[in-house]
Amino acid sequence: MITECVTPTEENLRRAGEILKNGGLVAFPTETVYGLGGDAFNPDSSRKIYAAKGRPSDNPLIVHIADKESASELGSVLPESFHLLADELWPGPLTLIVKKKARVPEETTGGLDTVAIRMPDHDVALGLIRAGGGFVAAPSANASGRPSPTLASHVAEDLNGRIDMILDGGEVGIGVESTIVDLSEDVPTILRPGYITKERLEGLLGRVELDPALSDPGSSARPKAPGMRYRHYAPKGRMSIVNGDAQAVAERINDELSKSGKACAVLCTEETKSLYHGGLIRCLGSRSDLKQVSLQLYRALREFDAEGIEEIYAESFPEEGFGLAVMNRMLKAAGYTVVEV
Ligand code: TXA
Ligand code: MG
Repeated sequence: MITECVTPTEENLRRAGEILKNGGLVAFPTETVYGLGGDAFNPDSSRKIYAAKGRPSDNPLIVHIADKESASELGSVLPESFHLLADELWPGPLTLIVKKKARVPEETTGGLDTVAIRMPDHDVALGLIRAGGGFVAAPSANASGRPSPTLASHVAEDLNGRIDMILDGGEVGIGVESTIVDLSEDVPTILRPGYITKERLEGLLGRVELDPALSDPGSSARPKAPGMRYRHYAPKGRMSIVNGDAQAVAERINDELSKSGKACAVLCTEETKSLYHGGLIRCLGSRSDLKQVSLQLYRALREFDAEGIEEIYAESFPEEGFGLAVMNRMLKAAGYTVVEV
């Protein structure tokens, strides 16, 4: 199969929509990361998505829609909390899980009786969804186990020859995947942290819980989002997060850099980058602008893979607000290796 990579002109969006309606796959930008889309009501399209990514088929897909009303075609019950969040935060980086209607194929929901729904805040994504019939199942457009793509070239790196088309909309805006909230049970529960924070959700809903498996990954708690079970966002190099006072962190990392005979890299910030000596020093942005940091994170991990980096040392960030999502992805990339100094 030849994968076309095109700019999202009106004509190309129309063609992309035809591809989806005919059961093909199109990668597209959203405000979070690139997605790999197929027709959500076509079980064959969902099977093709799993095959293209090399993703286990018990890991459900998010159905992307272009208007809130479409959610009633997917969910059998839309609770009050659904309306509160969708009215306030859609389009936006927020995925809502509700009980599914029978017509949503089990292939799309990984065999679950619930469905994840999201309306992305990106013109190209919304244009593609409309052109493709209104319901686009899409996981992140990376090969399973690699960092999610924030550029069209990342999608091509992983999926060239396996999908029909890539719509190149340039770099995404946030760089980590949407917040997922499960509304299918009594208390709304965050299954995956993202740009929409717990505090923001609590402001709208009152009580909101975090899936216990998020705060204690070593416990036997089983994450409720099947995808959170797999080792994700993994760079090829061994990554450690060093936590503590900035000066002490830099001293420890410099020490490791001078001892190691391997190809090393440092993930650091504007405020601290001049403290490091040796290795490949990659600044993610300013500590005062976490959105910059999140946008650069996956891109930096991919660059390290391309450079053949064997050891990665990363600074840590406070796990509050959006920092919870950034650290969640960094901890996963590091296989939860944290060094306290
Ligand atoms: O920002 C995003 O959400 C991106 C863009 C493309 O929209 N999509 C994305 O999809 O990150 P994916 O497939 O990489 O991650 C979806 C996560 C997985 O962890 C999956 O297990 C979980 O959502 N999920 C999907 N449907 C679910 C359901 N019904 N119940 C529980 N978890 C679900
Ligand atoms: Mg993913």
